Amino acid sequence: MTLVERCEAFFAKRFPRAGIPVFDDTEEVPVTRGSSWRESFDGHAPLYMGNTFTRNTIAEVDFLLEELDVAQGGRILDIGCGTGRHAIELAKRGSQVVGVDLSAEMLTEARKAAAKAGVVVQWVHADATRFVSRDAFDAAICLCEGAFSLLDIDDDPMEHDLAILRNIHSALKSGGSFVLTTLNRYAKIRQFTQEDVESGRFDPLTLIETYTMEYDSPGDKKKVLVRERG
Ligand SMILES: C[S@@+](CC[C@H](N)C(=O)[O-])C[C@H]1O[C@@H](n2cnc3c(N)ncnc32)[C@H](O)[C@@H]1O
Repeated sequence: MTLVERCEAFFAKRFPRAGIPVFDDTEEVPVTRGSSWRESFDGHAPLYMGNTFTRNTIAEVDFLLEELDVAQGGRILDIGCGTGRHAIELAKRGSQVVGVDLSAEMLTEARKAAAKAGVVVQWVHADATRFVSRDAFDAAICLCEGAFSLLDIDDDPMEHDLAILRNIHSALKSGGSFVLTTLNRYAKIRQFTQEDVESGRFDPLTLIETYTMEYDSPGDKKKVLVRERG
């Protein structure tokens, strides 16, 4: 058995699909969880592409295409696609892309950008912890905290992130590739003090930070209580 086959057997055993709703890419998946992240991304969506970290998309997609090793015309799933910066660039280079996001407003920006770029991407409004595709993908990406580690107030951190990984795994063809970026947990540990632990801002056991995030929305600054895992 190859290493890939062993990993697939491991995931199939530990995370069976039974009981998990399976959604078609063309359906709107009801987003029922009361997410503070959804609220903040909805509000911030029109300004998102002004963030400096969005400026290296072309170089990031060069890297992704090398790493994912997907043939021209291959199918790629972008989880937590946001305004679609990677999905659209991948589509420009010939991939068939499905972008999934919790925020309807981020997807509105994505649709506008895809139309401007003259490419077709399939956008799905769904929660990555619940989205399971019927289609099989050659590759998947989940970048820049695209769902992974962005927790609702009452989410179990392990269950949340494992559900996302399980759903991505189910969507991939056998041997399909996956690129995930996540926060550096050691950086979080270095960042916080004993005072932060005592005040409840940082939990060193789960590596979760709970804080009030201020974000820009058009003409306004807003605040929302969020949880984020390192
Ligand atoms: C920082 S943005 C990253 C967007 C994009 N991947 C990028 O690199 O620009 C995080 C995105 O994840 C989405 N997101 C957060 N939680 C999610 C969830 N549970 N399911 C789907 N998308 C989620 C947010 O709505 C937001 O668009």
